[in-house]
Amino acid sequence: MQHVGAEALGLDIEEVNDRLRSGVSLPSHCYVDQNVFEFELRAIFDRSWMYFAPVEKFTEPGTVMTGQIGRTPVIVTRADDGELRGFVNVCRHRGFTLVPEDRQCSRIQCGYHSWTYGLDGALLRTPRTDDIGIDKEELGLQPVSIEEWGQGVYVNPDPDASPLRGAHPRLDEMATSTGLWMGVDDFRWAGRYVHNQAANWKLWYDNGTECYHCPTIHKSSFGSAYDVSDGSFRLGTWGSMYSGEFDPVPAANGELVGGSYRSLQLFPCNQLVQQDGFVVLGRAVPNGPGSTTFIVDYFSEQDTPTDRIEEWVKLWNQTYEEDARVVEEIQSNLASGRVDAMRYIPGLEDASRFMHGLIWDAYRAAL
Ligand code: FES
Ligand SMILES: [Fe+2]
Repeated sequence: MQHVGAEALGLDIEEVNDRLRSGVSLPSHCYVDQNVFEFELRAIFDRSWMYFAPVEKFTEPGTVMTGQIGRTPVIVTRADDGELRGFVNVCRHRGFTLVPEDRQCSRIQCGYHSWTYGLDGALLRTPRTDDIGIDKEELGLQPVSIEEWGQGVYVNPDPDASPLRGAHPRLDEMATSTGLWMGVDDFRWAGRYVHNQAANWKLWYDNGTECYHCPTIHKSSFGSAYDVSDGSFRLGTWGSMYSGEFDPVPAANGELVGGSYRSLQLFPCNQLVQQDGFVVLGRAVPNGPGSTTFIVDYFSEQDTPTDRIEEWVKLWNQTYEEDARVVEEIQSNLASGRVDAMRYIPGLEDASRFMHGLIWDAYRAAL
């Protein structure tokens, strides 16, 4: 990757080091500046593992699913040979989008000039070019890295990426020690929701790694289902991961809405949550300095009554919406140029501070 000077991004390395050491956020312009945003896409999202979709969506050969990972449009396919593969969703002829939406098919035909590819990425057909001598071997689809873990398929746009467990060496250990996974086969996909927020992806992150705000912002959602009082929940940081564990409080009718809560966040912006009987997998897609889409898949144990699933999904969606409104206001204030810093409170907001350290490490590697 081409390195960019810190100065070109308006960053003074020593000053940022001092800020982070003293528990203060990255400079405010990092949340609103287009150049910084494009730098982050290259430095972080072009080379990171992100949750893509549920594994169970790919049981049938011929399945093709589309999605965006960072700035990379991606398709994941299950071909007849049973193998799961990922590719850049762009035609090698003139760059048209190959697959506009999820589908079942045996071949992928571009809608522009009908170049046709196999689900293994091979270029099979280039109409009316017999005399031109196109090298089909050269022009197969561009691969991305792909892995399965738990209920999810994960994608890294870098075809030469180190494996998921190389990027997150303590993933299995953490999942085991927190009891995050109760058994992949026990859960079924229960729906996908897409939440858009007019805010920078780092704000989504800052907000999602502390629960100092839960008693106020989530009073009637997450804060009503879980004990969010001081000292009652456990937040931790592990290499490239953040973890949170919460105990449930009974709802007014005496029932527990979600059971105990265990979560991991894998840098950058992957959310993995398990509650008794339910799983949430999500990723953030950064669209611009002030725009982020959060894509979340819900899973429930087989035979869970529909009304219980609905109640639980409603609780989560309300929580996401409450968070979105908060970070949108902060985004707008950051754009005013009048926010010199965001300050993280020791103990209560250590994980947000830790996340800034990971982001800054990624910046430094690319500066
Ligand atoms: S861009 Fe796909 S066939 Fe021309
Ligand atoms: Fe929140």
